[in-house]
This record gives sequence, C-alpha cells and structure tokens, in this order.
Amino acid sequence: PQARVVAVDGPSGSGKSTVSKRLASALGSAYLDTGAMYRAAALAALRSGVDLADKDAVAEAVRTAKLELGTTPGDPFTRLDGEPVDAEIRGAEVTGAVSAVAGVPAVREHLIAEQRRIIAEAGAGIVVEGRDIAEVVAPDADLKVYLYADELERARRRSAENDTDVSATAADIARRDAADSKTTKPLEAAAGAVAIDTTHLGIDAVVGRMLALLSNGE
Ligand code: C5P
Repeated sequence: PQARVVAVDGPSGSGKSTVSKRLASALGSAYLDTGAMYRAAALAALRSGVDLADKDAVAEAVRTAKLELGTTPGDPFTRLDGEPVDAEIRGAEVTGAVSAVAGVPAVREHLIAEQRRIIAEAGAGIVVEGRDIAEVVAPDADLKVYLYADELERARRRSAENDTDVSATAADIARRDAADSKTTKPLEAAAGAVAIDTTHLGIDAVVGRMLALLSNGE
C-alpha cells in the first residue's frame, strides 16, 4: 500500500508541533515541519539583506539558499546553507519577518514543490504540519486534522515555551494570525478535515484521537 500521509494544520499555539512529532513517532513515520521551512526561508531573506517588500529579490534569496530538513520525529532539524538554524528561526527577528516572506507567491511555489518531493519520498509515511497542508500541499492526505485552541490558551503555551510575557505573546499571535490570513487560512479547517479543540485536551488525548481516526480508516 502507499505510504500514509497525515496533514496537521492549525495556528500558532494550537499544539500541532508537539502532537505531530508524537503521532509520527507512534506511527514510525517521518515528520515534516513546514513552518520551519518558511522560517528558514525568512532567515535566508534577512541574511541576504534584501528589502522584504521586494518580492522578486526575496524569492531569489530563498531559491538560492540551501534548505535541509531532518524528518526524524525524535530529532528534527533545519539547516540553512549547511548551518543548524533551529534556535535562530524561533527568535523574534525571524518570527517578525516570516509572514511577509511566506506571503510571496514564488516563495510558496518553491517551498510547496520541495514539501511535495519530501512527502513523495517518505517511504514509511509522513506527518506534515503547517497552515495549508490539507488544502494545498497534500489534498489527498489519508487523514486531515485541524487543531485549534482558545486564543488565551495558545498565548499561554507559547509564552511558557519562549519564556515571554503572556499579553505580549497574545498580541504577537494575533498579529501573525492576521498577517497569515492574507496567504493561508490559519483560523479555518479545510474541507474534509477533522477539527479538534485542544484547549482542554492533553497531548496524549489528541494523539489518541488521531490514532483512532487512522485505524477507523477515516
Ligand atoms: O508553524 P509556525 O508558527 O512555525 O509557522 C511560521 C510561519 O510560517 C507562519 O506564521 C506562516 O507565516 C508560515 N507558514 C505558512 N504555511 C505553512 C506553514 C507556515 O505560510 N504551511
């Protein structure tokens, strides 16, 4: 049978990274963090010094950069031009620039082609997380899940992770949701996606639900 593809979409703080890695480990499949790809692309644009409003220059900077994604769920990594950038792509500078870079159509085209190549080559199946996976990247996925949570809970999770102030984090999340909404639909479930509210659900419960959906052949 063909390798199984699971699409996990949702906004920042919905729990999708933690859940996706855990699900991939449970399934013995690969894991792809497409947000890390957009973040590394934003870092490439920042490092090249181009004006982020110059879409052609941004796209060219991203196309000439070398992105490498580690897809083992227990040890995912992102490299830019051979250098590990896992910490830097989570920093404030990249987080502030990523929506603009992800909004450049030629950047998306380039990264989506790369994502589809990684998915096609994942022999043991793959869990792919992002914003547009069910709708655009892998519409034929075997399972599509949309994870969401209350805004305050999402801000609490992010601020605990990054050791930042909850209200500043909430403002930052709201800003990024609004900016991303011009490009993808971070606050909407795609057609055919199972929506799971993670506000009051633990990670194990969410992963358990997804495993049940997969074994029911949904
Ligand atoms: O998931 P994460 O918060 O790391 O994603 C970072 C950013 O990358 C998002 O805010 C969005 O701008 C962009 N993104 C996207 N499409 C995806 C995944 C992420 O546009 N599939």
